[in-house]
Amino acid sequence: MSDKEFLEFNKKGWNNLAKSNKPFSNTSLPEYGPFMANEDKLQLFKNIKGKSVLELGCASGNSLKYLALKGAKEVVGIDISEEQIKKAKSLNIPNAKFWVSPMEENPGIPINHFDYVLSLYSLGFSANPIKTLKLASSYLKSGGTFIMCWIHPFFNCLGIENNKLIITHNYNDESKKVITKGTDQIKLLQYNLKISTIVNSLITNGFEISQLIEEEPLSKNGIGDYHSTYWDPKKLESSPTTLIIVACKK
Ligand SMILES: C[S@@+](CC[C@H](N)C(=O)[O-])C[C@H]1O[C@@H](n2cnc3c(N)ncnc32)[C@H](O)[C@@H]1O
Repeated sequence: MSDKEFLEFNKKGWNNLAKSNKPFSNTSLPEYGPFMANEDKLQLFKNIKGKSVLELGCASGNSLKYLALKGAKEVVGIDISEEQIKKAKSLNIPNAKFWVSPMEENPGIPINHFDYVLSLYSLGFSANPIKTLKLASSYLKSGGTFIMCWIHPFFNCLGIENNKLIITHNYNDESKKVITKGTDQIKLLQYNLKISTIVNSLITNGFEISQLIEEEPLSKNGIGDYHSTYWDPKKLESSPTTLIIVACKK
């Protein structure tokens, strides 16, 4: 499958998810992911006042709205799904600009410009996450901060069989996989990279790693609002759900 076919597959899936209007996860600020500590605790954007921020895979714009309300002076979002961007535009965020585009390309976003680039549960949906990390670096000014959150690679390896915790994925296997999302079981393609692949690619693209965050899940005793055994309590007891990497462009 070519990158073009990968992107067409995911664009269709995300448009359908957006149109279904069904909630599927906690991946908008102030949340950093299911069962994950939120911005009130982590304070990764405590200096956002007067700053510019670009979000890769901004979805319906809720994270950018949150940052605008916290005092960001410029918020820009890029998303492959025109349905998501329609919703983002309807929020009428002041000083916001949105692009319908795959994040593997620069549709005209200024380079060496942003104080922050955010990727909140979007990088693994890129057809080429390494190219996307290179672009993320290009958008930041020197001293700017990249914040990326994705499924913790250890959590992703865990599964449940006969009520027992087992390893269902090979950590070494970085090939793309089809996953299903939401109550309508919409199919999407996803990459789950090793921590070393992401960190080494950030270093190669001019970043210094400032922080790796692997918080224990806030609750470990139930699936809560999530209609998926993906968030099984035994998995929640055994691993962080989300890996956050904070990196500074040199
Ligand atoms: C889990 S959502 C991110 C949620 C977002 N952080 C928020 O605040 O709501 C992932 C988003 O990435 C977008 N996406 C997936 N693949 C993409 C790609 N290759 N380029 C740009 N956006 C993409 C999807 O359309 C979707 O809106």
